[in-house]
Amino acid sequence: MTPYDLVVPGLDARTDPRYRMADIRAADPLGADAVLAAVPAMNADADTAALTVALRALVPEPERAAGWSVVDALAAMRDLGLLLGSLKRHGVQPVAAVPEVLPVLELLGRRTDMVPRDTVHHYTAWNPSGPRRRSYTGHRMEAELQEAVRMSFPALVAALDACGRIARLEPYDPGFALALDRTAHHLQILIDAIDLTVAEVTPEWFARTLRPYFEEIDVAGRDYLGPAAAQVPLWLVDLTLWQCDRSDPAYDAFLAESLPYALPSWREFHTRHRGGVSAVSKLSAALSWESGTPPAPLTAAAESLVRVLRILKSFRARHINLARKAYRDELRLYDEGSGGAPVALLRTVLDLTRDNETLVRRAV
Ligand code: HEM
Repeated sequence: MTPYDLVVPGLDARTDPRYRMADIRAADPLGADAVLAAVPAMNADADTAALTVALRALVPEPERAAGWSVVDALAAMRDLGLLLGSLKRHGVQPVAAVPEVLPVLELLGRRTDMVPRDTVHHYTAWNPSGPRRRSYTGHRMEAELQEAVRMSFPALVAALDACGRIARLEPYDPGFALALDRTAHHLQILIDAIDLTVAEVTPEWFARTLRPYFEEIDVAGRDYLGPAAAQVPLWLVDLTLWQCDRSDPAYDAFLAESLPYALPSWREFHTRHRGGVSAVSKLSAALSWESGTPPAPLTAAAESLVRVLRILKSFRARHINLARKAYRDELRLYDEGSGGAPVALLRTVLDLTRDNETLVRRAV
């Protein structure tokens, strides 16, 4: 076992400290373990005075934070973030209550090249498990939801690597189908993640107890969304498979809002591929030029692409069922998901995924 628990060939896993998940989970630069273990009890009592004191106690001197490695800076943001979300859940804007946290959030944001608050990656992939797990409620269902998102992270990073390859290849190249098969293999875990969530997290508990901890907070006059599963980089997989040239305004707007919450290398991935030709378009064009039976690599590419799109469709069909239950009228406290979009967006994205799958299936 290497010190890196995420090593994907061809990726900068050894040089990008954001992929050193074991190190980030182990880090406790604020000495916050004991204070954060008490947060679920403070939240259960809606004890905003105790939460404010806890946040104030953890805020480091900016000079000290400026010397931290990216690993420590990510861990510190994770730990401050638990208190930011907790205070907001009880109606307190955390930066207004503890103004000295503002320069530290801005500094940690700059140091890690991320937004000046915690994201879903801090809350899941970079969160320790076991007794050191950072949790708003300490409830088993919260841990299961964190686990579902956490297990998707390495698979999505590996899928992005394969998608980068797909974008560089033409469908006649046997490597095109191979890279699609690798993508399919990695994405399969998303279905397990949703099945785990459906089995372990009730929509009622999510809607009424957990969702309020994911509210946006104000940092220097700008609202930043809380840790939302919608920020996992599935939209970057879409980008190369179909979204870059076959999208929809609602999905485009959602991606524009999600982009700042991505890791720097994922934002670069987006810049590199957003004006490109998608796998669906490349394949459709290649098939339309063939008058007789298409050559074997092209048929293989089409079959592989259909397979990936079916996995995405299955994930999204299961996920939308869950989201509909949690956001139904009689249960929901919010009109939108924690990622800032309504359940209607999920319908749009599912329809687009299905349309692209149908198009490729019919083209062969
Ligand atoms: C109780 C559990 C969950 C509920 C109620 C839920 C609900 C939602 C909602 C309402 C959205 C719309 C955008 C927004 O967040 O504002 C969304 C988006 C999304 N969620 Fe979830 N979600 C849940 C769990 C998960 C899990 C476990 C994952 C992945 C492991 C996930 C992945 C996504 C993704 C990738 C999107 C972006 C839209 C898409 O690609 O289809 N969600 N979710």
